[in-house]
Amino acid sequence: MPSIIVTGGRPLSGSVRAGGAKNSALKLMAAALLAPGESVIHNVPAISDVDVMARVLEGLGARVTREDHTVRVDASDVTSVETPYELVAQMRASIVVLGPLVARFGHARVAMPGGCNIGSRKIDMHVHGLEHLGVDVSFEHGFIDAAAPEGLRGAQVILDFPSVGATENLLMASVLAEGVTVIDNAAREPEIGDLVDMLTSMGARISGRGSSTLEIEGVRTLTPAEHTTIGDRIEAGTFLVAGALAGGPVTVTGFDPSHLEMLLNKLGAAGCEMVVAGESVTISRTEPVVPVDIATLPHPGFPTDMQAQFMALMALAQGDSVITENVFENRFMFADEIKRMGADIDIEGHRALVRGVDRLEGAPVCSPDLRGGAALVLAGLVAEGQTVVTGVHHIERGYEDFTGKLASLGADVRMSEE
Ligand code: UD1
Repeated sequence: MPSIIVTGGRPLSGSVRAGGAKNSALKLMAAALLAPGESVIHNVPAISDVDVMARVLEGLGARVTREDHTVRVDASDVTSVETPYELVAQMRASIVVLGPLVARFGHARVAMPGGCNIGSRKIDMHVHGLEHLGVDVSFEHGFIDAAAPEGLRGAQVILDFPSVGATENLLMASVLAEGVTVIDNAAREPEIGDLVDMLTSMGARISGRGSSTLEIEGVRTLTPAEHTTIGDRIEAGTFLVAGALAGGPVTVTGFDPSHLEMLLNKLGAAGCEMVVAGESVTISRTEPVVPVDIATLPHPGFPTDMQAQFMALMALAQGDSVITENVFENRFMFADEIKRMGADIDIEGHRALVRGVDRLEGAPVCSPDLRGGAALVLAGLVAEGQTVVTGVHHIERGYEDFTGKLASLGADVRMSEE
């Protein structure tokens, strides 16, 4: 079974570069479906979720070529509008092809995503939003069938919650709708701004970028575009927490620090020193970790995708902290694993009480999900002795060369295929 083997206690220092944002690149690739011809997307990370999205697009008939970190998607000959369960089950973000397919071809069939290990993750907002735009949505044989033979009509859609995926699906559907669409209570994650930029380069007319009200004036056709993906704030944040745990100084480059403001504030409150310079942040810590409470919220709140990594830091704080998870309903599986390393954590509903301990011990642990897996490796960096993290495929979904980048900072970490 592949695993990551970490021996704790090595100092970390130096510089590491974050790649392109996973949560952006996947949607930019789907956006290429909106226009016949070849779109070119740079700074796409080499991670397995991107492999799955490439297979989704190829399954639809698009031609996908990759060289280094550039992906070309030629959507001239889309021959199918169906994405099978085999792919959606591997990556639920596959459902973002729903919006662009129904907008351009008037029909899309995407397998229903099943349950997921971070809560039930419903899709009701995607569906209701599309229905507002005049799409007939039905569910049959495990598929979502979306049909709009007469085309889509602009409308006002108010989301119950600023869902990232629903905002993106509706954006990509509305750019080709007739008339004006307003998405209210839209998600404001930086990756949505990136998608708006690519759609705008393709000829879409969108205003309100970065705000919770997006206004889209539909156009008849779009043209392919060339676009560079923003840096991955979550990968960057993960390395910053590694620096915070080990003491640093660690410099993380290749991302926009303003995308991580809340995390940087909380790391500062936890006793870390940070220097922000352009597209980089240098973190160091010489004093003990101060306990800090966090509550995850949609952007610009504390990102749920940084919750597990921050919990690893709080596990070693000098006192108690409370971590509240407001975005997903079941995202504390990481706590059970880090408890096996000696952390003292009690979960009650969507709150975790973390009582800081003096030391963690290396142990065999299993990645519960993508970010939880990365957080276990971080815990292993400062635990006594050896930590063996299995479930590596979760980490590979979202981190390119995670062990190589940590090793370049001085960590004693390696992949084992045994
Ligand atoms: C995206 C990110 C994920 C991140 C999350 C929140 C990608 C590929 N993934 O996921 O890394 O953790 O945003 O920042 O970009 N919900 C509903 N009904 C819906 C849609 C969502 O109830 O129709 C709920 C979900 O169950 C969840 C919450 O809304 O509890 C947030 O989900 P959402 O923002 O949609 O996350 P994703 O787009 O799935």
